[in-house]
Amino acid sequence: MTRKLFRNAHIFTPIDKGKPLAGEEQGKIAEIKDGAILANGGVIEKIGVDCGVTKGLKPNCVDEEYDLCGACLIPGFVDPHTHMCFAGRREDEFGKRISGLPYLEILRQGGGILSSVKAVKDISEDELFCRTRHMAMRALAKGTTTMEIKSGYGLETDLELKMLRVIRRVAQETPLNIVATFMGAHAVPAAYKERADEFVDEIIIKEMLPKVREQGIAEFCDVFCEEGVFSTDQSRRLLKTAAAMGFGIKIHADEVNDLGGAGVAAELHAASAEHLLAASEENLKAMGRAGSIAVLLPATAYSLKKLYANGRNIVDWRVPVAIATDCNPGSCFCESIPFVFGLSVMNMNMTVNEALTASTLNAAYAINRAKKLGSLEIGKQADFLILDGETPVALAYHAGSSSILGVYKAAARVI
Ligand code: NIG
Ligand code: FE
Repeated sequence: MTRKLFRNAHIFTPIDKGKPLAGEEQGKIAEIKDGAILANGGVIEKIGVDCGVTKGLKPNCVDEEYDLCGACLIPGFVDPHTHMCFAGRREDEFGKRISGLPYLEILRQGGGILSSVKAVKDISEDELFCRTRHMAMRALAKGTTTMEIKSGYGLETDLELKMLRVIRRVAQETPLNIVATFMGAHAVPAAYKERADEFVDEIIIKEMLPKVREQGIAEFCDVFCEEGVFSTDQSRRLLKTAAAMGFGIKIHADEVNDLGGAGVAAELHAASAEHLLAASEENLKAMGRAGSIAVLLPATAYSLKKLYANGRNIVDWRVPVAIATDCNPGSCFCESIPFVFGLSVMNMNMTVNEALTASTLNAAYAINRAKKLGSLEIGKQADFLILDGETPVALAYHAGSSSILGVYKAAARVI
């Protein structure tokens, strides 16, 4: 196994305490000046101040040594919520939305998510793979070394499986770690209009979930709980079944209207609830008690021209917060965690330290990857970024610039 020593770095990392960081803990970041990382086979063997890491190292026991010239170094970003597997673009829809047509109205008229469903149906599996890989590589260049990708532009069993196969192939053929989420409950297909119960019970629960399970092709199950899409009862039924089958569970909750999706997340001890722009204080606090992570998606609020989720309060209420891009062709065409980071600090009033935990360790917890990823500590994978700046403040301060100079995956430079 190759041993690599990275020296002369200014390291910033959250410290893993065995569960997602909440409240004041979310804002605590370890800082190591004149730091070094010794990686063995891509895994961190030692990390700390240079003299501590190099002390006692036998001569010639390191295969490669790098001087990082004092650069700022942070963990690779983890993006715990994307819909990055898609075909086609929706620029026409974006134009209508910025002129005032509501997002849910477009879906009601058969556009929005349903137009992406048609695009995924019409494209070959190879072409869908090429497009998804292209998006994943764009995200990698912006510092995302691990991400979740959801299905949900199939809505038919074969097409959902097609998406999940593509996601698996992107995991195999790019340097990123990728976690797949099954989201057959992303919209009610036109053929089931007014029959959402039947779609949930007969198609998703009876047909899709067992097939996805049998093929071992997704780890999580997610549902879009929203007015005119899936109700809290339908979401609860689906997620309970999925959990009993061994899936981790997630819920798109209270994005536009407060239906109580955050309360369902708390009740079912979901890994996470996402969006939460309209979630009530009571349900958010219940999530905190249940240990469900609030995955906030400020680039979606930006793109939908909505009020941002109140990240400041949510952290203060001791709900562990993660941030994600929500990258998709409709509500948020953005694969950049640096952009999301800036919005979190400037528009959700989170501190830079809180945003750093939210985009690394808590994000890794939200997709069950914290054992190996999300912070720079002994035994974890050496996934890290070199920033163009003195501290992680640069990610919010240098607006519109990604500030990412180098991306390392398992101690190998990939960007
Ligand atoms: O998280 N809200 C539901 N799903 C996505 C949007 C998907 C789309 O518009 O294509 C979201 O915003
Ligand atoms: Fe989403």
